[in-house]
Amino acid sequence: MELTQDVSKVEVKGLEARYYDRLMDIITLGYYPKFIKKAIDDLGLKEGQKVLDFGAGTGRNALLMRKYIKESGKIVALEIGKEMKEQFLQKTKGYENILLKEQRIDEPFELGEKFDLVFISFVLHGFIQQKRDVIIENAKKHLKPGGVFAILDYANFDVESANPIVKFAIRKIECPLAEDFIKRDTKQMLEKHGFGDFEKSLYFKKYVRLLKGKKEK
Ligand SMILES: C[S@@+](CC[C@H](N)C(=O)[O-])C[C@H]1O[C@@H](n2cnc3c(N)ncnc32)[C@H](O)[C@@H]1O
Repeated sequence: MELTQDVSKVEVKGLEARYYDRLMDIITLGYYPKFIKKAIDDLGLKEGQKVLDFGAGTGRNALLMRKYIKESGKIVALEIGKEMKEQFLQKTKGYENILLKEQRIDEPFELGEKFDLVFISFVLHGFIQQKRDVIIENAKKHLKPGGVFAILDYANFDVESANPIVKFAIRKIECPLAEDFIKRDTKQMLEKHGFGDFEKSLYFKKYVRLLKGKKEK
């Protein structure tokens, strides 16, 4: 069966969007805040760096990243969800170096500036492969030479033999695009677009991975 974008759940809306952070905390039995703090620490951000966040969500990640880039850095967050944008603006109010733009990431766009890091957290799995390739090209286009594309998402593993809770979550709660993403080699996906010098960090019993690739070509 060919997968279409219609099956995707990545455009989080309504109650799920309004309570997104709390839902993540509950689903992970309270582990999410510790996990996301660690994953953002693993990004290796430095003072003064410029970050572009694809499908930024509620602003929780932006606030954590700001601790590393400080006042001299900048975060540009791209988001399209109504509830997500509202929460983002509320959370990041008063921080002049955190900017929110309404921009779809799955079609070509041009911001007219380059970034040290493009971050995409739990977004890429929700697209058909053709759109994932557009998103990766958008990341590449907006990175400085040697800049880093960081994907925080499901790792590549065998869903059939995974922990029963993980298997249930992927097959019954997530959309079919998630399993399609898990089956594909994410590193190869990035290599095809000219990324290399990969680094990875694993979380949640290796079911979640932060994959960082450098723009080489
Ligand atoms: C699962 S949430 C993850 C949010 C955030 N990155 C995080 O880790 O908490 C997916 C996010 O991607 C946004 N999104 C979905 N499709 C998008 C698109 N085409 N362009 C920009 N944002 C999109 C959704 O509105 C939602 O905020």
